[in-house]
Amino acid sequence: MALREIELTNLQDELPTQVSHWLVAARRRIERYWDQFSEKPLPQYIECDFDLVAAALVECVSRDWIDGRLFVEWGCGFAVVTGIAGILGLDAVGVEAEEFLCAEGRKLLSRHGVDAEIWNGNFLPAGASRLAEDTDPLVSLTHELEPAYDRYDMPLADFAIVFAYPWPGEEHFLRLVFDRYARRDALLLMYRGPYQIELYRKR
Ligand SMILES: C[S@@+](CC[C@H](N)C(=O)[O-])C[C@H]1O[C@@H](n2cnc3c(N)ncnc32)[C@H](O)[C@@H]1O
Repeated sequence: MALREIELTNLQDELPTQVSHWLVAARRRIERYWDQFSEKPLPQYIECDFDLVAAALVECVSRDWIDGRLFVEWGCGFAVVTGIAGILGLDAVGVEAEEFLCAEGRKLLSRHGVDAEIWNGNFLPAGASRLAEDTDPLVSLTHELEPAYDRYDMPLADFAIVFAYPWPGEEHFLRLVFDRYARRDALLLMYRGPYQIELYRKR
């Protein structure tokens, strides 16, 4: 793999006010979802630590590490991280398989005046499943949807930074997908679990 890890060192810094306000609103919406979970159970949905991911994105932007402006979130859920990227001035896209989450994400963004796009589709580029080993129980491979990039005529290689929160056991597969399809110098930011976030650059 041609991925080089970059150390994130400013994760304790205070977040910009607009990001903090966005997170308050987003958490309120998500809390409502969990309260009514039985009405719309989505077993693949679980959210990351938004503060930690926001701090990592702020560091990427403020240190000028991102070689471009296009950001994509793989499996954006309620579009919270996509919204953070939009607020930080990136051209943010969230790709999500679940129509319900796409609709709710779009509503949340527009209600709070956050500029970002949500694409309903598969975040895996065509052919990416070949990179998985047969025995891997990978939830991201369970969606029959077409890759979202094709519909918008924007290949993954157009994006300068990808964010993903993989299910346990999927991180290696997603790194392989990024390594194969992202462009040189693109960044991969991965939330791995409590207090654990990783940043890679493709060389
Ligand atoms: C663990 S949740 C993470 C949600 C959000 N990224 C976050 O960090 O809060 C994974 C999300 O990815 C979506 N997903 C899983 N596989 C996908 C695929 N192949 N294409 C698009 N979305 C997918 C699921 O529906 C779910 O909303």
